[in-house]
Amino acid sequence: MSLLDKIDKENVPQHIAIIMDGNGRWAKSRGLDRTEGHREGAVSVRKVVEAATKAGVKFLTLYAFSTENWCRPEEEISTLMELMVYTVAKETDNLIKNGIRLHCIGDIQRLPENTRNALCRCIEQTSSGENLTLVLALSYSSRWELVNAAKAIAAGVKNGVLDENSITEETVNEYLTTKDMPELDLLIRTGGEIRISNFLLWQAAYSELYFTDIFWPDFDEERLYEAILDFQKKERRFGKISEQLEKGNP
Ligand code: FPP
Repeated sequence: MSLLDKIDKENVPQHIAIIMDGNGRWAKSRGLDRTEGHREGAVSVRKVVEAATKAGVKFLTLYAFSTENWCRPEEEISTLMELMVYTVAKETDNLIKNGIRLHCIGDIQRLPENTRNALCRCIEQTSSGENLTLVLALSYSSRWELVNAAKAIAAGVKNGVLDENSITEETVNEYLTTKDMPELDLLIRTGGEIRISNFLLWQAAYSELYFTDIFWPDFDEERLYEAILDFQKKERRFGKISEQLEKGNP
């Protein structure tokens, strides 16, 4: 029985996010340049997107470039941006064929024009995909997102669109980049570090967390299925006790 067959199709995480870490170390351990790790990382992206679609995941959010990544050497940044342009253009037909819709979150205006244009083209061409939404977090960080949400909410209160006493968690959700996405069920981080690195901090409040030592370029279909199977072993109590869940009490 394959790992995919072992997955309970009634309990598939609807939204998975991944911190794709370890490209540089993967390359270094082979005596290669860091950029080779990113190229191989793009191959893993392809495998994992395909695997997520097969498993029935509806949203897959990938941390492809953080706000903090702008501090990396210029050459590495331009390789990553070029890789994004190349991969997105190369994969568009495949995404359309498989019903996968591309979406981006983050400070997209900060990206180089050709990267932005390639992403916008692909977003437009794949917009009718209904199987999976692939979300690339680019020039994204949670603190950036939360500061923007706070500013927008403050402006709403100031101009009378919002009443400060009526602000709820749902209001905050509405001002986040993830506003139209389902709750984040599972957050995966590859590469051995046990931290969240400014990624989906609000959204991960009740997510299951899965950390693996495997470097991102070695993460493939089977590794994703292992993470989903691990998720399916968890009892998600959302602050309640087991007995309440068994009885189906609200
Ligand atoms: C982290 O590894 C990875 C990144 C900052 C970039 C992720 C980009 C890709 C996987 C490639 C392209 C993606 C798409 C969507 C086409 P690291 O460089 O921090 O690794 P290290 O911790 O070993 O140095």
